[in-house]
Amino acid sequence: MSNKPKSDNVIEKLVSLAKRKGFVFQSSEIYGGLNGCWDYGPLGVELLNNIKQEWWKTMTYREDVEGLDASILMHPRVWEASGHVANFTDPMIDCKQCKARFRVDTLGEALNEKKKKKAFEALVETVKADADKQKALYEIFEIHAEFEDRFEAVLENDKIGVDLLSNINCPNCGTANSFTSPRKFNLMFKTFLGPVEQEGNVIYLRPETAQGIFVNFLNVQGASRQKLPFGIAQVGKAFRNEINTKNFLFRTREFEQMEMQYFVKPDEDQKHYEEWKERRINWFKSLGMTPEKLRFHDHPQDKLAHYAKAAVDIEYEFPFGWGEIEGIHNRTNFDLTQHEEFSGKSLKYYDEEAKEKFIPYIIETSAGASRSFMAFLVDSYYEEEVKGEMRTVLRLHPKLAPIKAAIFPLVNRDGMPETARKIEAELRPYLRVFYDDKGAVGRRYRRQDENGTPFCITVDTQTSEDNTVTVRERDSMEQERIAIDKLLLYLLEKLK
Ligand code: GAP
Repeated sequence: MSNKPKSDNVIEKLVSLAKRKGFVFQSSEIYGGLNGCWDYGPLGVELLNNIKQEWWKTMTYREDVEGLDASILMHPRVWEASGHVANFTDPMIDCKQCKARFRVDTLGEALNEKKKKKAFEALVETVKADADKQKALYEIFEIHAEFEDRFEAVLENDKIGVDLLSNINCPNCGTANSFTSPRKFNLMFKTFLGPVEQEGNVIYLRPETAQGIFVNFLNVQGASRQKLPFGIAQVGKAFRNEINTKNFLFRTREFEQMEMQYFVKPDEDQKHYEEWKERRINWFKSLGMTPEKLRFHDHPQDKLAHYAKAAVDIEYEFPFGWGEIEGIHNRTNFDLTQHEEFSGKSLKYYDEEAKEKFIPYIIETSAGASRSFMAFLVDSYYEEEVKGEMRTVLRLHPKLAPIKAAIFPLVNRDGMPETARKIEAELRPYLRVFYDDKGAVGRRYRRQDENGTPFCITVDTQTSEDNTVTVRERDSMEQERIAIDKLLLYLLEKLK
């Protein structure tokens, strides 16, 4: 067996495999699809649920973290207090020629390296004539060492962004000097509460799950009698009207987040920030994600969100480059202070030992369930040659695999199907299993390899003699004989 490196065009292949095997379908496909929205099929919903469940267990099966499931629709004042109404915007431009629309800060993603370098060199020349603009460029050079980061920072800069834009042709139609001036676009989806569609009834689909936690801080604390430091965790849908969706599940308009807000004493923020950083990156590793494909990316000061004192992304190296899968933020006391001010209700914590009241600081861990799904899928995808044939295999961690074991009768006679069905019935209450008696056993193995099923159990001629079956492990393809009455324990042990 030669273990080939990951194949080319992994994303295209994954999108096709995801549809064929029932992991992910385009939303509303028969109507031509809905951009930025995806449906999780039979295998996909299992994988997604397993990711969320593993997160939930890791984050809430602890003494110091409580769970919550807040509603998606919230009082509109929440989004004024949080800063989303004023600040949750992306700069947007249109091509006057072909009408294509782009998010300014990520325009670089649509351009090749050569074009970017050329446009940037032209900008460096242009700003030489203007001291103010030159200063803005130097500041960016001081903060950002890497070219990509510099390019993005210039595009977002009020003083020199338009100068760089004027050197870039539209990535869609190639027209020069065709962009409109950047304007702000709020990413929140709006709808109306109740039957009357008027301004006073506007509410928003939540763009993050975090605010449901902040506004419930004292409810949860009072009910659970937690003391600082403690956390509140939540998994749920979030919606963002992204200007450009892209790369399959990476940037979508509807997605799921797995967020935890950890409330701490103000002077202990740094310690908890560091601890949660490590715990969170280790979570991805513990579920089999390739450690070399994970890294931290600290946010430079000029890129920090309006609420953050420090922020770091956990990034995964996707086939299209490094991309954030989780953010860890020191949100200070910003959120609770804002909600206190806007609601007029105290959100102070009473410290019984110190006999004082204060607003705690918050360390946030914010992971995308859908983005993690994509990272786990990409990371597990392998094509390899086995005895002269290619096999596609999803090396998903057994805890995440949608189907834990498949059960086959070697042939459909000699009592093998009956025994195999009996094994299936015994395992099914405990594990998601799959029965397959169609085609050659080699083909059945391949089908399960593509599903990411870690174990295949085959009833063969020896079974009737000694009550054992073969268990074939997906990655090594090695087989061992296990007594039928030990099967459940054997599998549960492997899935621990
Ligand atoms: N409460 C903080 C917050 O929402 P964020 O960095 O905007 O922070 C956190 O989002 C995570 O949510 C990201 O790391 C990513 O995994 C996921 N996410 C954000 N926008 C997304 C989108 N449009 N599509 C898919 N996942 C998204």
